[in-house]
Amino acid sequence: MHDFRYVGNKLFCEGVAVETLVKKFGTPLYVYSQRTLTDHFQKLDSALGALDHLVCFAMKSNSNLAVLRTIANLGGGFDIVSGGELQRVIAAGGDPRKCVFAGVGKTEAEIEFALLENIYCFNVESEPELQRINKVAARLKKIAPVAVRVNPNIEAHTHAKITTGTYENKFGIEFEKIEGIYARASKLKNLRLRGLQMHIGSQLTTVSPFEQAIRKVLPLVEKLKKRHALEFFSIGGGLGIVYQPVLASGSADWWQSAAAKNVLTPAKYAARLVPLLRPLGLKILLEPGRFISGNAGILVTRIEYVKRTGKKNFLIVDAAMNDLIRPAFYDAYHEIVPLTRKGGAPISSDVVGPICESGDYFCKDRPLPKLGEGDAIALLSAGAYGSVMGSNYNARPLPTEVLVNGKKFAAVRERQAVAKIWADEKIAPWQK
Ligand code: LLP
Repeated sequence: MHDFRYVGNKLFCEGVAVETLVKKFGTPLYVYSQRTLTDHFQKLDSALGALDHLVCFAMKSNSNLAVLRTIANLGGGFDIVSGGELQRVIAAGGDPRKCVFAGVGKTEAEIEFALLENIYCFNVESEPELQRINKVAARLKKIAPVAVRVNPNIEAHTHAKITTGTYENKFGIEFEKIEGIYARASKLKNLRLRGLQMHIGSQLTTVSPFEQAIRKVLPLVEKLKKRHALEFFSIGGGLGIVYQPVLASGSADWWQSAAAKNVLTPAKYAARLVPLLRPLGLKILLEPGRFISGNAGILVTRIEYVKRTGKKNFLIVDAAMNDLIRPAFYDAYHEIVPLTRKGGAPISSDVVGPICESGDYFCKDRPLPKLGEGDAIALLSAGAYGSVMGSNYNARPLPTEVLVNGKKFAAVRERQAVAKIWADEKIAPWQK
């Protein structure tokens, strides 16, 4: 949250007062900090400096073209999960040869497109998928680079909806079956066994589950490396970030603050994992999403009404669950701060959107400053799985997105015109 801070009483993103952005672009508004994106990418990249490695940004967390361009300019690759994401990489000027393609349901058309674009590797999630990739590659007279995703059956101790590395999940192939699968796959003529991949879950806040999973899988990677001349081992993404209040920490360099002592920093991550991985002598891939983009974005919204009932103080804002679904979907916590800092006693408040669902809330019974109609507030840590999970529910247009770089800023996504919401719909011929 490091480039969003108060200067005097005003919330700034880098060198720009967020209020200035609101005046120019209106609300709801996503604001991204290029410096934070860069800083997080580089912190991780340099922590792994002792390894031959590639950081592939999990663009499912934020796929705005300007965000992708930032990562591409830093030399990063991309973890993609659809043909659409690959098209976005290309549109942003990223390099398909630095892309790994994950996901359990790749279609033939997606496989063909990715092969023609010469992606680095397919991260394969089942044996039928291996066969399908081999078949498409044969038709195109190409050799498809593949890595199988091993499910190490390690509990990641995170939210149930974002745990992926146990046998309860649909992801990957059971640890015990991997050697057999590589043996069979090595007979498929249009495949090249390029690596092994794993990803155990998202928003992990300690290194231990990563370490446990790596320790379990290492002997397997060693064997496969020898047998099939693997080139890389991907340890997935999942590094957690701090959602709990951090602006309050007051430290100029947040990474040096007391709060940072309790979180998973790239330095801690690398200190435990690099010594394990280095002797392997393979290229190491990482697929972090949230760690890079999460604290690089905020969602700004304006209070339309204050509604007091006998029990509650509702702040009804102009953003809704269609703009940021994480609180409704995962009960996720996002710190909420006013654009203009206020004194006075806090009031227990619910911040809610205008959508006709009780799930349309951003927080409940949270002590917030006394706020009134027209005040703007920011939902922090909204850069990952925010805008990308947005929808047009209730015919609400997708919000403007702005990228800030020092004192410069630019709209990197225009507010969707309302008529575009139904631009692809039609009245049936018999209704005319
Ligand atoms: N690699 C694979 C194979 C993944 O499935 C994911 C995330 C990542 C990498 C990136 O994980 P990260 O580094 O961002 O934790 N919408 C949820 C998170 C879903 C994560 C899905 N997979 C949320 O808002 O918390």
